[in-house]
Amino acid sequence: MKRIALLTSGGDAPGMNAAIRAVVRTALYHNLEVYGIRRGYQGMIEGDIFRMETTSVSNIMQRGGTILKTARSKEFMTPEGRKKAYQQLQKNGIEGLILIGGDGTFKGANVFFKEYSLPAIGIPGTIDNDIAGTDYTLGFDTAVNTAVEAIDKIRDTAEAHDRMFVVEVMGRDAGYIALNSGIACGAEDILVPEEITNFINIMKRISSDKRRKKLVNIIVVAEGDELGGAAAVKAKILEAFPEIDVRATILGHIQRGGSPSYFDRVQASRMGYEAVNAIMAGETQVMIGLKNQEIIHTPFEKAIKEHAPLNLKMMEMARILAS
Ligand code: F6P
Repeated sequence: MKRIALLTSGGDAPGMNAAIRAVVRTALYHNLEVYGIRRGYQGMIEGDIFRMETTSVSNIMQRGGTILKTARSKEFMTPEGRKKAYQQLQKNGIEGLILIGGDGTFKGANVFFKEYSLPAIGIPGTIDNDIAGTDYTLGFDTAVNTAVEAIDKIRDTAEAHDRMFVVEVMGRDAGYIALNSGIACGAEDILVPEEITNFINIMKRISSDKRRKKLVNIIVVAEGDELGGAAAVKAKILEAFPEIDVRATILGHIQRGGSPSYFDRVQASRMGYEAVNAIMAGETQVMIGLKNQEIIHTPFEKAIKEHAPLNLKMMEMARILAS
């Protein structure tokens, strides 16, 4: 193999740049030519492909976002779109691909590589940490730290005003950010998509806290929770307790940006390095992941089959510690 290309796709995540740097530098070390594809699969369709050198990745390790830009491409979901993408790869003499992204990225890859044969290695990059076959996805640690910093600040106002806050964190299908930021901030309740939300229990808890004159309450809710996010939870609370001073805050995309934590930088470096080694060793359609701190390889098929399960024991622990 002489020439590989690399792209980032789906939602950006802190650590993607560190992974890009690791891929480019490792590939160049092994005398491979490396091409960057801008804007994920959409850029592949449009032929937005350029040669990368060692200086293309200088001074990017500490930067959030992705220098390759990213997109969620609707066109790539069509056979015509995928055909155009493959033609662009052929035109540029690309013999292998490294993909950095979330489950949507690997779902797209799985379809594409059934139609067109080309060696491909994935690196999990999403703040949601929800991909099966890896304990960790790049960006999660930084995103949780961002959420924790924000919720701590909100708690100051909650204390000062004796107010309740419902804080919505990201996670369309996954409660990892909610669970971990909720535990770290001592949230009174944590609502996640993986667990049926028992609103009666929440009401009982609020009533008992009122009796105990415990007036500060932080409820962390994942955007994908069945109740429908912070605004919906706030409305339900007000229905039952119209006298309570409650506010809803949506943290939103601040969770996606910012300088990656040391942990994200190190894991990104490991995964990028390993991705190049894997493609050179002739592996294909596997995602590089982490299990018990060690690097593992998981077939795309398995990675996309299901979401990584949330640790429900930790939910139980969070309830006990906040009581
Ligand atoms: O997958 C990462 C994520 O941030 C999810 O938590 C969130 O639901 C989604 O992306 C938001 O995507 P977008 O930025 O395209 O609205």
